[in-house]
Amino acid sequence: MKVMIVGGGGREHAIAMSIAKSSKVEKIYCLPGNAGIEEVAECAPIGPMEFEKIRDFAKEKGIDLAVIGMDDPLVGGLTDVLEEAGIRTFGPRKNAAILEGSKAFSKDLMKKYHIPTAAYENFDNADEALAYLETANYPIVLKADGLALGKGVLICNSFEEAKEGVKEIMLDKKFGASGNTMVVEEFMTGREVSVLSFVDGKTVKTMTSAQDHKRAKDGDEGLNTGGMGTFSPSPFYTEEIAKYCEEYIFQPTVDAMRAEGREFKGIIFFGLMLTEDGPKVLEYNARFGDPEAQVVLPRMKTDIIDVMEACIDGTLDQVNLEFEDNAAVCVVLASDGYPVAYEKGIPITGFENFKGKDGYYCFHAGTKKTEDGTIVTNGGRVLGITAKGKDLKEARANAYKATEWISFANKYMRHDIGKAIDEA
Ligand code: AMP
Ligand code: GLY
Repeated sequence: MKVMIVGGGGREHAIAMSIAKSSKVEKIYCLPGNAGIEEVAECAPIGPMEFEKIRDFAKEKGIDLAVIGMDDPLVGGLTDVLEEAGIRTFGPRKNAAILEGSKAFSKDLMKKYHIPTAAYENFDNADEALAYLETANYPIVLKADGLALGKGVLICNSFEEAKEGVKEIMLDKKFGASGNTMVVEEFMTGREVSVLSFVDGKTVKTMTSAQDHKRAKDGDEGLNTGGMGTFSPSPFYTEEIAKYCEEYIFQPTVDAMRAEGREFKGIIFFGLMLTEDGPKVLEYNARFGDPEAQVVLPRMKTDIIDVMEACIDGTLDQVNLEFEDNAAVCVVLASDGYPVAYEKGIPITGFENFKGKDGYYCFHAGTKKTEDGTIVTNGGRVLGITAKGKDLKEARANAYKATEWISFANKYMRHDIGKAIDEA
């Protein structure tokens, strides 16, 4: 079968590598892809929001299955466009991707269906938001309603900070139309865990858990990023917690979407916080996490094509979803200055060190091949170095060892990915 992947980051590289392992797949295309994805897929320079070009490409190549990795095209309705053209597509339709696309929608859904989450109010008027914030308890969390590259969340310690936040989100529109509506949410504390799941409209099957590190600097300092590293599984996500989440969060979310006439097929990524009052939903995403996919997918034993097809066909209850009984850690190599300003086009060396090394992966996030064949940096997050181990400590040591195999002039990474493992 011929598969087309839409996206071009570390997540899509991990998806492409998983798909390439399937015996059913003869050819993979990736739009636009990157220098690493090129090793397993034919890449074409079509952007993720160029829906008509993507559809025409898929028709021309006779694509049997399209897999959409990124949030923007899903929220924008690429699945609907491809399905209308008769192309089987893995990823929720527009009316279901709203679960990620609108935080106000997802909060209202959770409230209506009694799914545990932080208390909140939605505002589409800045004056009303300010009046509310004047008498609120601090810290408090402000969230732009729509997609904002993971950056539309502000934690405010005082009314002064909140005023500044309202200005940024609702008045200055720092996150564009995403800030037309704003969610004001109770500040929660606890450990975070990412649970990704496959969903076929009615059945939900969770993957092994993971934990991200969103801040740019060691000790969870610095700005929020797309994610600086991950480990899987999370030792804090116990069987007991998993059971609670299945009963009160995962299945209820899938059932709620169906009840609303927004049947969800694809990936639901549950961003959870393990609070003193039990697990609560921080956010939903309608796709694999990045860099969660880079630690979860290398540990998946089941053929990913079988699972994706079962999601489309509504037969996920018949799939036995299995993961290896080991661990993985991913350390992101970024360009110094990310997530603010950084140089691009810097040559990267050392890729050959990964050749023939089982259990080690060099996922490309922001890379590009120049005309003379040199691979150069082309983004803030450049590479995701993943290693497996028999347990988390071994995986972490292996991943950090492998980060030394790669060199580029402004290479930056966090040195404390997986520090929480020591507290488990
Ligand atoms: P989100 O994009 O909604 O996951 O938010 C990004 C990050 O902000 C989360 O991973 C948390 O670290 C933090 N965050 C979001 N909502 C809250 C909250 N209600 N309380 C505390 N931290 C939060
Ligand atoms: N790593 C968090 C995300 O993909 O949203």
